Amino acid sequence: MASQDDLKRIAAEKAVEFVPENEYIGIGTGSTVNFFIEALGKSGKKIKGAVSTSKASSDLLARYEIPEVSLNDVMGLAVYVDGADEVNHSLQMVKGGGGAHLNEKIVANASEKFICIADASKYVSRLGKFPLPVEVVPMARSMVSRKLLAMGGQPELRVGFTTFNGNQIVDVHGLDINLPLTMEDEINKLTGVVENGIFARNAADVLVLGTEDGAKVIYPGD
Ligand code: 5RP
Repeated sequence: MASQDDLKRIAAEKAVEFVPENEYIGIGTGSTVNFFIEALGKSGKKIKGAVSTSKASSDLLARYEIPEVSLNDVMGLAVYVDGADEVNHSLQMVKGGGGAHLNEKIVANASEKFICIADASKYVSRLGKFPLPVEVVPMARSMVSRKLLAMGGQPELRVGFTTFNGNQIVDVHGLDINLPLTMEDEINKLTGVVENGIFARNAADVLVLGTEDGAKVIYPGD
């Protein structure tokens, strides 16, 4: 039986086919993305440059001599490639297990197409089993947590973790995310919330899933 990492690698290697040459692309964060950067580097495919969402991804881009560019220096990105903690059949996702979901949502927003790469365990019929990461301004942490509790979740501070933008993460357990679009907007409306990890407004266009039978390419509603 293939390991979870084997399945992540299968998805990541297949996703290289979705990268157009001579374009700018966006790169997410996480172990699946690490396999993707490695596969892209080894493929010899030439891109104009990549916008990174974390230091870990930037370091790996440098190791494979893939040029990094700032989002502020490009007009837009052809594709964005990133992993997910959960992805449903509409290709809406929960992300932010690595705490990078604010940068990830910004770069996804700047991209024409979102290619999600994941191992088969991430593909679910309903979002919400994975605790939802919510990035909060530190002084609002307790106030926002009380409001998340009132929304039916169990908020838990990610202790000892600070985001790239100097904020904190509250991981919310047990939320009923049967309406991802509504939930994404409702949480983002709370004063003090910077961004939450539901990607319904920025759902993926394509899911490349690593399975025991190889890579499967899935479109919304499949
Ligand atoms: C980071 C993310 C990652 O994409 C998500 O946590 C999946 O990570 P991995 O590929 O390591 O399973 O959203 O903020």
